[in-house]
Amino acid sequence: MQPITKAIRTRIDHTNEMEHSSPLFLTSSFCFDNAEDMRAAFADETDVYIYSRFSNPNVQEFTDRVCALEGAEAGFATASGMSAIFATFMSLLKAGDHLVSCSSIFGSTHTMISKYLGRWAIEYSYADVLKPETWESLIKPNTKLLYLETPTNPGLDMVDLEWVCQMAHKHNVLVVVDNCFATPIAQRPIDYGVDLVIHSATKWMDGQGRVLGGVVVGNKQLIHDIYLFCRTSGPSLSPFNAWVLSRSLETLQVRMDRHASSALSIAQTLDNHPGLSWVKYPFLPSHPQYAIAKKQMTNGGGVFCFELKGGLESGRKFLDALELLSLTANLGDSRSIASHPASTTHAKLSEAERLATGITPGLIRISVGLEDPQDILNDIKQALEKS
Ligand SMILES: Cc1ncc(COP(=O)(O)O)c(C=O)c1O
Repeated sequence: MQPITKAIRTRIDHTNEMEHSSPLFLTSSFCFDNAEDMRAAFADETDVYIYSRFSNPNVQEFTDRVCALEGAEAGFATASGMSAIFATFMSLLKAGDHLVSCSSIFGSTHTMISKYLGRWAIEYSYADVLKPETWESLIKPNTKLLYLETPTNPGLDMVDLEWVCQMAHKHNVLVVVDNCFATPIAQRPIDYGVDLVIHSATKWMDGQGRVLGGVVVGNKQLIHDIYLFCRTSGPSLSPFNAWVLSRSLETLQVRMDRHASSALSIAQTLDNHPGLSWVKYPFLPSHPQYAIAKKQMTNGGGVFCFELKGGLESGRKFLDALELLSLTANLGDSRSIASHPASTTHAKLSEAERLATGITPGLIRISVGLEDPQDILNDIKQALEKS
């Protein structure tokens, strides 16, 4: 059975009403018939719902569906992508441990590593995504975890998952991948040996910019450790958000096929545009790591980016000239979104800091929506003429 069929057909047990679509279990806690049943539940002798901070039928259904898509043994869903990342670090790292992270990662993840992990005496080193040959030398005797995104946000650089897993596992280092940009439709990191896969479900999984959510899936024992941490610390996904996200997963494959085919055709048309220094999309042959993308992805995803020749000022003008695309701090929506990291999300960093995370002055990131691709292209082209 294909992963998407398994995901669509994974569901909560029917209630007595025999409903076709899973109902919403909007409840904080679950009842017991007697003291003995309640004791057994708390003693982990039975596998039943106790309290929605620990688990909930809607949250479990969403998690099980992501596990089906990613080919994972187990998973745990959280309130946001960031809480999934934080819970993973807190569960698997302790004082004195060392983390190697790719430096080209989502801004808040970068802040969490460089600003907060030190409070728990967890050390880190950043690895340059464009110099994979240097990564092994960053591993120390206390290195426990290697963290990366591929494709990276927003630069769309790629890491060879098979290579990184072989290298890290040789040193008993766990590999954790944020697979948010590719989604399990385009890339299944566990097939290449990755230990844990994280998603901001807020993006393509929701697909319509409605709810926040996060999920981590993979090795059963590691997930159990994350579950125990989350059950105590409480970054739980709300049953309502889980219900929304679970329904969204049923259409993930058809949506991602369309997002990716539109992104590819628009990127192809814009390649060699006179106003642009370059266009980057994993499935464009001009992408520096095209071979890696073709090896481990079945499509290039729904995001492409380009560099405006006019730099920072052109970036501002481009955003102002757009008529159709949304200016909003999200991606992975049915509506196309444009962002200019240098003047918005990363404006507080120095230019040198921005460049270190792959953010050039005229970098524009486009999250391609489900509108007609010609309309998306027309809007980008007319904005380019004015920038
Ligand atoms: C690659 C990536 N990882 C993690 C996150 C954080 O997810 P959330 O906003 O759901 O906390 C984001 C958000 O943009 C992201 O792009």
